Amino acid sequence: MSAKIIDGNQVAASMREEMKAQIDQRRQESRPLPGLAVVLVGDDPASVSYVRGKRKMANEVGIHSVEHRFPADFPQAQLLQVIACLNQDPAIHGILVQLPLPPHLDENTIINALHPDKDVDGLHPVNLGQLLRQEESFLPCTPHGVQQLLLRSQIPVAGKHVVVVGRSALVGRPLANILLQKREGANATVTVCHTGTPDLGYFTRQADILVVAAGRPGAITADMVRGGSTVIDVGVTRVEDASRKQGYRLVGDVDFAAVAEKAGAITPVPGGVGPMTITMLLHNTLWATQRRG
Ligand code: GUN
Repeated sequence: MSAKIIDGNQVAASMREEMKAQIDQRRQESRPLPGLAVVLVGDDPASVSYVRGKRKMANEVGIHSVEHRFPADFPQAQLLQVIACLNQDPAIHGILVQLPLPPHLDENTIINALHPDKDVDGLHPVNLGQLLRQEESFLPCTPHGVQQLLLRSQIPVAGKHVVVVGRSALVGRPLANILLQKREGANATVTVCHTGTPDLGYFTRQADILVVAAGRPGAITADMVRGGSTVIDVGVTRVEDASRKQGYRLVGDVDFAAVAEKAGAITPVPGGVGPMTITMLLHNTLWATQRRG
């Protein structure tokens, strides 16, 4: 293996140490401590596991978290009432509605109901609009985590060609806009590829930094990667594995073993982008608290 492994666990842990120190300081000064509400509808196993991880890490840094869990058939009108209450609750600084929601719930309607100042997921149209205008806003957690991972791994982005595979509202589209910004940790030339892109490899081979968020294991093989480039794998898919206690293992979108022979740096799955996503949620929750004073 020639590539440097980018250790997301380590970068995320050091960011959480910094946050914990800031929260401890607030406690000493008797300032309000951050509160995070996590809303989960249904019992999708991956979502249940993500929510558990988010709450555990929140509590570790000193963020008070409350979980609001509802059955899969919970009516939309009632969910909107819950969000209205959380918008008013002074002890809650951030609200996270775990996605995906069951099909009878309209994700945009639910996200639009969040107060933009509590939208620590950065998915409300006000926050996404501010991102486009390059105003300070909550940035969506996974793309913000990718940016921080590059920055804290000393991988230059400015002037580089970043190729993003995937145009989802959660990752690809916000990431392209974050890395396009004219500021530190960005200022890249960005190409976005998607399911309508013919000859994907033609584009991915031109990347100095390749970010893959396709949600398709094996989407990126070694022949699609330029030697010495940086490869960030955002994909997380559960595949059955009887040899594991849980009965599954997590795999990314990149053929890790072969690509690691060719790339200059690469993120593993798990242990790459995943821990950064949760950490950026905590970062946004702390920032929501600091903004209020
Ligand atoms: N489901 C998968 N990723 C995310 C995320 O970043 N935020 C929310 N709310 N749900 C998700």
